[in-house]
Amino acid sequence: MLTGKKILLIIGGGIAAYKALDLIRRARDAGAEVVPVMTRAAEEFVTPLSVSALAGTKVYRDLFDLTDEAEMGHIQLSRAADLLVVVPATADLMAKMAGGQANDLASTLLLATDKRVLLAPAMNVRMWTHPATQRNLATLRGDGVLTVGPGDGVMACGEFGPGRMAEVPEILAAIGAALGAGPLAGKHVLVTSGPTHEPIDPVRYIANRSSGAQGTALAAALRDLGARVSFVTGPASVPPPAGVEVIRVETAREMQAAVTAALPADAAVFAAAVADWQVLNAGAQKLKKDGSGRAPALEFGENPDILAGVSRMTTGRPALVVGFAAETETVVEHATAKRARKGCDWIVANDVSPATGIMGGAENAVTLITGAGAESWPRMGKDAVARQLAARIAAALNG
Ligand code: C5P
Repeated sequence: MLTGKKILLIIGGGIAAYKALDLIRRARDAGAEVVPVMTRAAEEFVTPLSVSALAGTKVYRDLFDLTDEAEMGHIQLSRAADLLVVVPATADLMAKMAGGQANDLASTLLLATDKRVLLAPAMNVRMWTHPATQRNLATLRGDGVLTVGPGDGVMACGEFGPGRMAEVPEILAAIGAALGAGPLAGKHVLVTSGPTHEPIDPVRYIANRSSGAQGTALAAALRDLGARVSFVTGPASVPPPAGVEVIRVETAREMQAAVTAALPADAAVFAAAVADWQVLNAGAQKLKKDGSGRAPALEFGENPDILAGVSRMTTGRPALVVGFAAETETVVEHATAKRARKGCDWIVANDVSPATGIMGGAENAVTLITGAGAESWPRMGKDAVARQLAARIAAALNG
């Protein structure tokens, strides 16, 4: 997958540096050439000898190394690779990059390069959520820097939360995507996500409890496999992923128009929790109490079924159409019937009864219903569900 590609791997000084060793091995297994660079702090966590042995080449460590400068100057080193990857990207390295500092070899290479840069951040939860780090992250993303992770989890420092570095397969997928080498390279995938808001009047609306977390994770996972992703999202409570085309909508009708405009696509995944009804007599002005004690009578009309509409397209239908089914009982039977009714290829069914804590939560337990039958997946994080589903979509499109 990475044959002939050259990666300049900058290893930062954090406990997650040990994962860089495995990354070197796996990137080389995938055909890449890895040129390692270590910061001074990285050497506190892994040894240059291990890095060099695994990479099968020398390790660059010093900006002022006369031999290195004579053989290959640092400017040339920063440009000879196809991609720069920073593992782990520490808070300090990110701050240096965002500030344009160049006071050691790693930061100088990152400033001097004309190639894309991919960061795998890893740090303590508080350091990651600190406004300074988040400011630096926004700056770096604005500069076109790519990121993978961090995820949630138990950290080496014993705390729990975001800041845990992405796992090696995820970093490899992001490297593949950054180099246009992922299994979905050249494919266009449409994802709907989040709730819709149906106005009652200019200040009130009807909504549902969808956070948009599963659709957002899915868009990121598809992007990581190299897809061009159009992400049509209602007003979700989680931010959209970087590196995808974001189309924001409010109502089901707006979502339908945005989906139509975003087609054609190779695959379309409908993870949005679309409101079934819209208010036909929504007020143009804020509705007032009229003193009678009676509530205004709202008249409801059915919203367009976006998934069914796309599934039944006679020309230009995406090769794979995937719907979601949020059920609270007899999940498989209801979802199997829904697949037939909507005309989609797959249904991702989940039990959202309150006891499961799935709606608005971080985990999901899904059953994938295809033409071949129902397949129940173990309960796992929404990110993991997304990665597994994205891999299945890639296999289906390439099969
Ligand atoms: O009918 P129900 O809402 O249970 O179906 C769920 C699936 O249909 C989801 O994939 C959802 O995104 C999609 N849907 C849609 N347009 C609607 C209603 C649901 O695309 N109006």
